[in-house]
Amino acid sequence: MAVRVARSSESFDLRKKVLRLETLYDVSRALNVLRDEQALVDEIVARAVALLDAERGFGVVFEEQSGPAVVSTVSFPTFPGSLAAASDPFVLDLCRARGPLSRTGETVLGSAAGSVVGAPLVVRDRVLGVLVALEREARGGGAAAFDDGDRRFLESVAALAAPALDALRQLRALEADVDRLREENRALKGSLGIDELLVGDSAGMRRVKELVVRAAASRVGVLIRGESGTGKELVARLLHAASPRRDGPFLALNCAAVPETLLEAELFGIERGVATGVEARQGKFELATGGTIFLDEIADAPLAIQAKLLRVLQEREIERLGGRRRIPVDVRVVAATNADLERSIREKRFREDLYYRIRVVEIPLPPLRERREDIPRLIGHFLSRIAAREGRRPKSLAREAVARLLDYPFPGNVRELENLLEGAVALVPGETIEAGDLQLRGGRTGPGSDGSLDLATLELEHIRRVLESVGGNKSEAARILGINRRTLYRKHVSN
Ligand SMILES: Nc1ncnc2c1ncn2[C@@H]1O[C@H](COP(=O)(O)OP(=O)(O)OP(=O)(O)O)[C@@H](O)[C@H]1O
Ligand SMILES: [Mg+2]
Repeated sequence: MAVRVARSSESFDLRKKVLRLETLYDVSRALNVLRDEQALVDEIVARAVALLDAERGFGVVFEEQSGPAVVSTVSFPTFPGSLAAASDPFVLDLCRARGPLSRTGETVLGSAAGSVVGAPLVVRDRVLGVLVALEREARGGGAAAFDDGDRRFLESVAALAAPALDALRQLRALEADVDRLREENRALKGSLGIDELLVGDSAGMRRVKELVVRAAASRVGVLIRGESGTGKELVARLLHAASPRRDGPFLALNCAAVPETLLEAELFGIERGVATGVEARQGKFELATGGTIFLDEIADAPLAIQAKLLRVLQEREIERLGGRRRIPVDVRVVAATNADLERSIREKRFREDLYYRIRVVEIPLPPLRERREDIPRLIGHFLSRIAAREGRRPKSLAREAVARLLDYPFPGNVRELENLLEGAVALVPGETIEAGDLQLRGGRTGPGSDGSLDLATLELEHIRRVLESVGGNKSEAARILGINRRTLYRKHVSN
């Protein structure tokens, strides 16, 4: 009789060992496929509790930077939570011991437990969490203590689970890093860097930035309007940089600066042999495929070109000069003007249908004199940029000089401010720029000025007045002034 009992208990122990080995094997396989911490902890706690003949059990993975706490319980109707578990005396003992422990008559999580066994989840000397099983049932009923074999089994489960958990957490941290880097990249290339590049917090500039960010996502036509030097080209570039086309080309073409006869070939390209010796050449539209084309001074595009532009915008294909092939182009068009386009339409100098195509979104750039609060930040921006270019420390502006600038009307807007500062930095040998170092227009300050206007300034004033009288249309102004458009452009822009 005694022998039979011994035999049956031996075979029971053997069966138990085999079962535990199989469990360890299953656990290790499960750990390889589970990609979720919760599922992983659920799996090992459930298996451990079952194999240890325990009535209850729990697993806790503590909160860390790379992940929130994970809790899994078996037969705990009310579990106090991961924080309470982390401060439980038995759990703390496990963390300190860095190895398995079994006890009887212990209080775990506030309630008396007949017997308890636990193992910490340790990786590279770091405790990630614990596995705990409670209330061992004796064979045939009643309570029993967890033994050596139980401790070793739980230790093995923990040894398998800990590196798997660690790997999952590292993976998650890496994924978070990748997301962050992607976001930063987007920020650098796109809309989030806009505050550093387009300086100004005035209501007008905030509106501009908002419009840039919103219009960047789509391909709708954007018309940027504003006086000379207000930042139209800068905004066009930002619009491109913030758009999904940012990796494509950005090509600018000034419709006022290119002679009419060359404008068509510049835009649409030319086929070989159109005139003797002419080689085939791609136009800006073809070259800008996948990117953005910036049509500056759009009001000055001749009517014949306007008709062709409209066709490109409608059909998204071009024909080279002297060619019959239709070449598809995928280009976003951003246009800019300083002119009164509505007036040009009334005077039949600008096509209304083209106007609506290019002006789905309009971004108005306010003149600098209407947003003086932006001047101090712009000063700082340009002084540090000039200094960075020259590899020196930024010079500073005397208070009187800043006051003078805050008071100045800036007919040339931001470009004039930039030029003024460049000039002053170049002229002043010391570290501080005084009010007298600023060569403001109109003879208000600056060396050698007595308040009278010189010839060049008078000429410029006259050009400005004529331009104003024709709503900013440079072709028209050039005709009235009796000079060609390029000359006008040169005189107007370089001043
Ligand atoms: N808000 C701003 N923040 C920083 N720099 C600016 C800002 N606005 C303009 N600038 C700078 O001022 C200069 C003139 O700007 P931009 O060439 O874009 O003006 P524009 O409106 O196209 O002028 P124009 O009508 O004469 O062609 C550029 O060097 C540009 O980088
Ligand atoms: Mg410009």
